[in-house]
Amino acid sequence: MRIDVFTLFPEAFEWFAGQRHVTNALAAGHALACVNYRETTPLSGGQVDDMPFGGGAGMVLRVDVVEAALRARYEADPVELRTRRRVIALTPSGRLLDDALVDELAAEPALTLLCGRYEGFDERIVEHFATEAVSIGRYVLAGGELAAMVLADAVLRKLPGALGHEESALEESYSAALEGAPEYPHYTRPAQWRGWSVPEVLLSGHHARVHEWRREQSRLRAQAQQRGHDHPV
Ligand SMILES: C[S@@+](CC[C@H](N)C(=O)[O-])C[C@H]1O[C@@H](n2cnc3c(N)ncnc32)[C@H](O)[C@@H]1O
Repeated sequence: MRIDVFTLFPEAFEWFAGQRHVTNALAAGHALACVNYRETTPLSGGQVDDMPFGGGAGMVLRVDVVEAALRARYEADPVELRTRRRVIALTPSGRLLDDALVDELAAEPALTLLCGRYEGFDERIVEHFATEAVSIGRYVLAGGELAAMVLADAVLRKLPGALGHEESALEESYSAALEGAPEYPHYTRPAQWRGWSVPEVLLSGHHARVHEWRREQSRLRAQAQQRGHDHPV
């Protein structure tokens, strides 16, 4: 998997690139690169954005600037590029990122992530250069960098070798192993703390009962989420 992130703030990814699962993935042959729109802008003074037609506050990332950055990186017309590579525009109005989409993206050989800033993209970028628009939630961030990190994090940890224990990625929230439900609760030592005890079944050593209890907890959490609570109450 090769992930290219197009951004105005490549330095924002320095911390992310140093995280263990990311360094593991890179050591296993995967790649993460940042491309700065500003470095290839055809406009003078490093300009990358402009005022919105029709008026209004904020600046809009220009289509010619994004085209220049994509052409320089891939030596191809971005309109043709998207027929052979997944190009994702990160935007609050896109398809919501979930575990199914992460699985789908983790199976790709390469991803291009386009980060917006300010008021967002000139819509022609999304329409003609991107294969899709993806949102990480129904709220608005200042820029696409955190959204790109969220997406890349979720994708990279699915890749073989990224996590220390491969099993930890199999049975976790929203996985097929849990039928799409949230994961069950975990506890560790001490078994007693301020009178808060660990559920007895987890100390029983009875694997079948532990398994059944965990599935039940998972189902309860799914029902609670459907009712709009984060945990069963
Ligand atoms: C301030 S936002 C633009 C918001 C836009 N004017 C709107 O109301 O939809 C700037 C950039 O942050 C990124 N962004 C913000 N919220 C996001 C979200 N929930 N998911 C993905 N990207 C997001 C996008 O790349 C966007 O172009």
